[in-house]
Amino acid sequence: MKHLRSVVCGVGSYLPAKVVTNADLEKTVDTSDDWIVQRTGIRQRHIAGEGETTSVLATHAARAALDNAGLTAADIDLIIVATSSPDYTFPSTATQVQAAIGMTHGAAFDIQAVCSGFVFAVTTADKFLVSGSHRRALVIGAETFSRLLDWNDRTTCVLFGDGAGAIVLEAREGAGTIKDRGVLTSHLRSDGRHREKLYVDGGPSTTGTVGHLRMSGRDVFRHAVGMVADVMTDAFAATGTSAEDLDWFVPHQANRRIIDASAEKLGIAPAKIVVTVDRHGNTSAASIPLALAAAVADGRIKPGHLVMIEAMGGGFTWGSALIRW
Ligand code: ACO
Repeated sequence: MKHLRSVVCGVGSYLPAKVVTNADLEKTVDTSDDWIVQRTGIRQRHIAGEGETTSVLATHAARAALDNAGLTAADIDLIIVATSSPDYTFPSTATQVQAAIGMTHGAAFDIQAVCSGFVFAVTTADKFLVSGSHRRALVIGAETFSRLLDWNDRTTCVLFGDGAGAIVLEAREGAGTIKDRGVLTSHLRSDGRHREKLYVDGGPSTTGTVGHLRMSGRDVFRHAVGMVADVMTDAFAATGTSAEDLDWFVPHQANRRIIDASAEKLGIAPAKIVVTVDRHGNTSAASIPLALAAAVADGRIKPGHLVMIEAMGGGFTWGSALIRW
């Protein structure tokens, strides 16, 4: 029996031109390059300039992904943007992107699962495509967390950056085996009891303000490795695969220590890990597609490769997807 699969046929990304190094931050808060590198692996991050809203970054990434796929907006019938830093409370950032690329058909909406947003968006798009209701989806992770940060709070402002990444998913027939190209399995989780460990202290229905990101870093760290290991184990179990079968591990880029500890727990070889956190910082929902775009552009990820993506973030939310590229 033929199975519809959501196959990646294009990838693109966009980073704002402005780079802020750890040395730059040393001038504004009581921190040091050594502290940041040792605790997180971050050396620099990109910060959006004036007028560079989340939808602007997302649109650049979307256009790059469409070009990479050899497609135009006319070929897309679904846009999902994962973001927690939208241009406006409403309308959605996805509809801003839809208008910007000149698409007047189909549907566009946002998904909010903080750092797990891209995995949630890929999973959602996959459900639409394999149901047969839609044919091609632009799945975008885009953030301007620089606008949610308290730049006087050294415990958070050194960690995050801005950027956007996008993939095009296309419904294609497969054989229904793990040799098929496409999203092979995905696993989403959340547990709202952890709200206070990572949140923004404002919003339209509470303070009426945008608010600032607040985080109990140690608590997040303590939960992160176990949670992402669980959903990766679920992905291996659902497909009968193991860490040895992976070609690439593309985790959410929050912190080098979380990435390395998760890989070690699952027995994933260090050479298979795609790392961009050193250059991008934590770009929340944008981090995975930014890392995918980097690893495709430099020739590491190739068609047929088995790629694991995973993330954990505010909520808490967490999830994984196993993709045959
Ligand atoms: N520069 C210098 N010192 C700092 C800084 C800074 N930027 N930030 C905190 N410190 C100090 C603290 O004040 C504390 O000082 P004290 O001992 O005098 O009180 C000391 O460093 C240790 O602070 P901790 O918070 O205990 O440091 P820890 O080793 O836990 O590292 C970090 C903090 C990097 C945030 C770590 O907890 C972490 O990586 N947590 C994961 C959180 C994360 O990555 N979140 C991203 C968002 S969630 C996600 O994407 C999954």
